[in-house]
Amino acid sequence: MIVTVINQKGGVGKTTTAVNLAYALSKGRNVGLLDIDPEGGTSFSFGIRRDKKEFPLGGKSVNIFNIEIFPAHLGLLKLELGGEVEEVVKSIKSIAEGFDVLVIDTPPNLGTLAVASMIAADRVISPVTPQPLAIEAVRNLDSRLQSLEKRAIAFASMSKKPMDIELRAVKFVQIYVPPSKLFSESSRLGVPASRYEEVKLKKPKIAKIYEELGKVALSE
Ligand SMILES: Nc1ncnc2c1ncn2[C@@H]1O[C@H](COP(=O)(O)OP(=O)(O)OP(=O)(O)O)[C@@H](O)[C@H]1O
Ligand SMILES: [Mg+2]
Repeated sequence: MIVTVINQKGGVGKTTTAVNLAYALSKGRNVGLLDIDPEGGTSFSFGIRRDKKEFPLGGKSVNIFNIEIFPAHLGLLKLELGGEVEEVVKSIKSIAEGFDVLVIDTPPNLGTLAVASMIAADRVISPVTPQPLAIEAVRNLDSRLQSLEKRAIAFASMSKKPMDIELRAVKFVQIYVPPSKLFSESSRLGVPASRYEEVKLKKPKIAKIYEELGKVALSE
């Protein structure tokens, strides 16, 4: 199963979602995490620098916390600028064959890599921050999903309450991830916030939210 995290607005929590969702789903499942964003946010979150070499998509991986991570590399930029959507879809599907779930972190645009990740997806998840531009972005995503005959779930990211916006292809679930400094602290250390919290705090809160998101995503 392919779970794509998408929102063309930058900085809304896509990478944070992909990383923590992969971590939540990896308990009891064989999980891959594909960083298809040439900026390499997911790779950075695990302390991996973007590779200056070029690989084919899925050509290089590293296992951390029992998640098989496919870090960003220079080849992604070439695909973004000159790749064929259909070819990228094929590559993504062939990577996913090796896993129970492949989570994909996408760049903040609707270019070749993001669109291919959306087409390849069995489940699409969109984090949305409670700001006018992020809401506008999810409205545009809704139109795009409709034209592709796909559906997505959305949740409130960096928000103190859930969001409820009526759209056609995007369904808002009653899940929200509150603002927390644990995200920046953990990112600096190269570990998912859910993992960091498990080690540091007695009562994990963040991990529970991503477990719930994982359940909803897989069941929708
Ligand atoms: N719930 C949260 N509370 C506080 N900070 C958060 C939260 N979620 C994410 N962040 C922080 O917000 C910043 C942006 O998040 P993230 O990188 O996940 O967004 P993104 O959508 O992937 O951005 P980009 O579009 O640039 O790839 C990061 O510094 C991250 O640590
Ligand atoms: Mg990102």
